[in-house]
Amino acid sequence: MSKILYDNHGRPINYLRLAVTDRCNLRCFYCMPAEGIAYLPKQALLTYEEMERLVSLLAEMGITKVRITGGEPFVRKDLIYFLKQISQIKGIREIHITTNGVLTVPYVAQLKEIGIASVNLSLDTLDRERFTQITRRDELERVMDCFHQLLAHQIPTKINTVVMEGKNTEDLVPLTALTRQYPVSVRFIEEMPFNGEGSHYPVLVWTHKKILDTLKEHYPDLQKVADGAFSTSYNYHIPGHQGTVGIIAAFSRTFCGTCNRIRLTAQGTLKTCLYDEGVLDIKYLMRNGATDAELQQALRYAFSHRAKDGFEAEQQRKHVSAESMSTIGG
Ligand code: GTP
Ligand code: 5AD
Ligand code: SF4
Repeated sequence: MSKILYDNHGRPINYLRLAVTDRCNLRCFYCMPAEGIAYLPKQALLTYEEMERLVSLLAEMGITKVRITGGEPFVRKDLIYFLKQISQIKGIREIHITTNGVLTVPYVAQLKEIGIASVNLSLDTLDRERFTQITRRDELERVMDCFHQLLAHQIPTKINTVVMEGKNTEDLVPLTALTRQYPVSVRFIEEMPFNGEGSHYPVLVWTHKKILDTLKEHYPDLQKVADGAFSTSYNYHIPGHQGTVGIIAAFSRTFCGTCNRIRLTAQGTLKTCLYDEGVLDIKYLMRNGATDAELQQALRYAFSHRAKDGFEAEQQRKHVSAESMSTIGG
């Protein structure tokens, strides 16, 4: 029987989001400015050995699910080697990856072999021009190739679409339509103000409610399906379709009550909420000789001082956020 780790609000913590790099090969409008962000020097990033040590310690404490994020994870050298290493760690039952799909295709067969549980693919539009406008790179074809390769290898796949006023709202219906032919979960996400510059809007226009109303207008027979225990998305099904469609209220933060996740940024900062500014510099401790027991003690302290939700976490920040999602890890 594995241990269950609880936070100070009685929420189980079993899910680690691990950012393996802050670098990305796209320049998405909602994530960073056109000129990009100042990337960390290499020595500031956790090494694979450091990450393995942390994942092992966290697995001992109750983490069973790891999601590899970035930046773009496949930009980091030898990612497959690292995935194999962490797939061997006792207690880690599932490894998932969130990727933009541009560099992923050559690795899909190996992901299947390693037993990667699912891949979430960032895809905001099916239109080449809009894709190039949003990501500032002309790479739609490679991302679509990745989508088809994932399905061909029967790797459970979700599509993540950030909904942006004036950028891709005409894609809601065509992206939802993918669920007819393909067993994919398409999830529409409220845009969060993590683009390296602060919010794009005085008020968020495309809220989860507006997204749902728009879907219902086009698909009046949309049916609610049961959501997983710690799901970030509210999920729906259209009769006759193979896949599902979901909405993630990432900015409205409606799912904090069941939040089971912690984050490690690429520079080794622990975040116990997406909206906090980092609660523990675990890399500093590690590089200054902390023992395993000391690291676990520091982690345990952080888990027992979690903000109750993303609003409280935001209030507790000392600096207003001008972070990029590429640095945070999503
Ligand atoms: P599953 O494991 O498939 O449920 O994926 P996920 O939703 O946890 O992860 P993914 O990396 O695909 O993220 C999808 C969107 O949800 C991104 O925009 C994330 O930033 C956002 N998101 C993920 N976790 C959280 C969270 O804890 N809080 C908030 N507010 N947003 C989150
Ligand atoms: N708001 C909402 N979602 C975002 N993502 C990146 N930046 C933002 C943002 N500002 C999403 C990406 C990716 C996931 C990890 O986070 O689309 O799929
Ligand atoms: Fe968890 Fe914070 Fe996200 Fe809420 S906003 S679900 S507390 S990470």
